[in-house]
Amino acid sequence: MSIKLLHLCDWHEQLLQMEILNEALQRYAEKHTTPESDLLKKINRDTHANVLMPRMLSGHLQGRVLSMISQMIRPKVVLEIGTYTGYSALCLAEGLAENGKLITIDINEELEEKVKDCFNSYCDKIDYRIGNALDIVPTLNETFDLVFIDADKSNYANYFDLVIDKVREGGFILADNVLWSGKVLDARPDTDTRAIISFNQKIHDDNRVENVLLPIRDGIMMIRKLSL
Ligand SMILES: C[S@@+](CC[C@H](N)C(=O)[O-])C[C@H]1O[C@@H](n2cnc3c(N)ncnc32)[C@H](O)[C@@H]1O
Repeated sequence: MSIKLLHLCDWHEQLLQMEILNEALQRYAEKHTTPESDLLKKINRDTHANVLMPRMLSGHLQGRVLSMISQMIRPKVVLEIGTYTGYSALCLAEGLAENGKLITIDINEELEEKVKDCFNSYCDKIDYRIGNALDIVPTLNETFDLVFIDADKSNYANYFDLVIDKVREGGFILADNVLWSGKVLDARPDTDTRAIISFNQKIHDDNRVENVLLPIRDGIMMIRKLSL
């Protein structure tokens, strides 16, 4: 098995341990949450049937949370780092203001055609970029109302540093997987876990923002940029 595949399997293994709520409560919460649209249901099904590491997809409950947050903010510009199969991008796009747009970046070009198809009905609102977010974010001149960080965990702190000056005062950053299947409590954390632990502490210590760690799914750090 190649080193790359071993790494992917290890990541997959970690994602499989991800639920914080027990399965019955998770099902109950989903049953009492607005259902996914037909398009989201289709992406969810297709990702689980045909794409590697389907647990990376936000899913029904978290997707509705992202949609709800976006609808509360009514953002003019959203940035997403980590498109994968487009599920969370479409959820966040539901709350866009009139004439608003969402920029979403992913390094994986293998999913490009599939994802473009899913964005068809939103193509005037979604700007989908393929490439390394570390290179692309510095080239963006927009001011963001909402940012969703959901890519490689080792770069979460870098993504925060790259976006914070581009977020408007009072704007929001959400970062996914900040409980990392509970591994943030490990006595001997692995590399990705150490990155998440250090990201969480960095955000908590940053006096430019206020933050809430929401224990939804694998943990979402909600960050609001203060007016200084
Ligand atoms: C957890 S998945 C995103 C899931 C998606 N946001 C959702 O909820 O449906 C993480 C994605 O980040 C992408 N990624 C990893 N490193 C990246 C980088 N440096 N730049 C851009 N995307 C990256 C991966 O290719 C993968 O598709």
